[in-house]
Amino acid sequence: METKLISQPLNEVEADAVAVVLFEDGDGIPAAKSWLEEMRASGEFAAKPGETATLHQPQGLKAKRLIAVGGGKKEKFTAASLRKAVGSVVRAAKQKGVKKLAWMLADGQSVEAAVEGAILGNYEPIMNKPSSDAKPLESFSLVTPAKSAELEAALQRGVILAESQNFARDLGNQPANLMTPTVIAKQAEQIAHDFRLDIEVLDRDRMNQLGMGSLLGVAQGSDEPPVMIVLKYVPATAPKSTDHLALIGKGVTFDSGGISIKPAQDMEKMKYDMCGAAAVLGAMRAIAQLKPDVPVTGIVPSVENMVSGRAQRPGDIVKSLSGKTIEVLNTDAEGRLILNDAITYAKRLGCTHLVDAATLTGAIVVALGHVHTGAFTNNEAMLARVLAAAKEEGENMWPMPLDDDYKDLLKSAFADLANIGPRWGGAITAAWFLREFAEDTPWVHLDIAGTGWLDDAAPNLAKGPTGVCVRTFTQLASNWSKS
Ligand code: BES
Ligand code: MN
Ligand code: ZN
Repeated sequence: METKLISQPLNEVEADAVAVVLFEDGDGIPAAKSWLEEMRASGEFAAKPGETATLHQPQGLKAKRLIAVGGGKKEKFTAASLRKAVGSVVRAAKQKGVKKLAWMLADGQSVEAAVEGAILGNYEPIMNKPSSDAKPLESFSLVTPAKSAELEAALQRGVILAESQNFARDLGNQPANLMTPTVIAKQAEQIAHDFRLDIEVLDRDRMNQLGMGSLLGVAQGSDEPPVMIVLKYVPATAPKSTDHLALIGKGVTFDSGGISIKPAQDMEKMKYDMCGAAAVLGAMRAIAQLKPDVPVTGIVPSVENMVSGRAQRPGDIVKSLSGKTIEVLNTDAEGRLILNDAITYAKRLGCTHLVDAATLTGAIVVALGHVHTGAFTNNEAMLARVLAAAKEEGENMWPMPLDDDYKDLLKSAFADLANIGPRWGGAITAAWFLREFAEDTPWVHLDIAGTGWLDDAAPNLAKGPTGVCVRTFTQLASNWSKS
């Protein structure tokens, strides 16, 4: 889809449809007033959020349709509301044969959020069948009161962020037979090549040499070889501080549960268990283009968690890269078993600040539903940075507790740690497990099990993986030296 900024009066905009936001209190785009006043006066359109009304062949307009979009109360309308509103209109319009959509922006409204909403809304999953109902828009124009270099830059930034998020969604959408650890590594190599990042892919032998027994224990039940992907972004000019950010993503390409096998119902969704990895690769793709002034290393441990004669058993004890031994009480708590070796490796590479994203626990879905990502930390200042970035990018995150009272729940009689605690508070004990490896290095863990994909399409987003955390990660890196 082509995206551009134009500066024209409403009546001259050429498009299949031009959309304007109206607010409940009557405010909106003054230029559109004369066309929409009557509809409002009739009571047919109250401008509630999510509401739309379409005028066909509006008199005096070059555009074929004028779409009024409800913005709700003006003071509650944020960049996130705009992103969502644009996405919803795009999804509805493309089903109705619109190819060229224009959007009137009022002064001060976010160009970046608007273009993100359009690109994210225009996305349809790659189907492994000839699809007849995906009819994407061909062009999206933002009509702004005036053009400027800043607005162009905001547009470009939005395009990079949203396309990188869609890239992450593409990875998530592929089934586990097509998106193996080897394929994820190939995708990472492609990003490194296209956007000039350094890359290293550790294979099983190398991980064995290094002593990543925790990750390798999960991988041993699968015929698919595991990988640890390391993608490096280094700023062109030497940064002022010694800070070095690591983005770490869980890349389990299929989670059968292993010997602690999952029930058949819904097991197909475990192809999404690599959405943390996808978020990291998507963010690295955006970071490589936006070039923040902090070094960022993306680390993706990727395995398949399977059942076989070689699979790890409950009760097995493995030795992690950190030297800590782990009693594997449940082979389905595999995410933490691969992430701990990645966390230790990140520290060995000199990373000073760590963030991980993982579809880690069903328990976080019980706690927060599908609305908020759960955020855990060993360092409040680091958490504040992540939450600030998430807020700017309109990704919902909620701080979760991680105090010492939960720590003892991971005690094992036979090893340094058990990989699970008791049933209750499962998202917190999972986070505590990771914290034991982050130790004193500032770290934030994002449990995206509830936010990583949509079971049903939303008005503004297709069903399937959401690409959550791509924008937050990128924004975190962009903001780094500013705070
Ligand atoms: N990948 C799952 C977590 C998950 C569950 C993500 C549902 C999305 C939806 C993870 O590896 C897992 O199996 N976790 C277990 C942990 C338990 C064995 C302690 C869980 O949450 O049930
Ligand atoms: Mn599992
Ligand atoms: Zn899993």
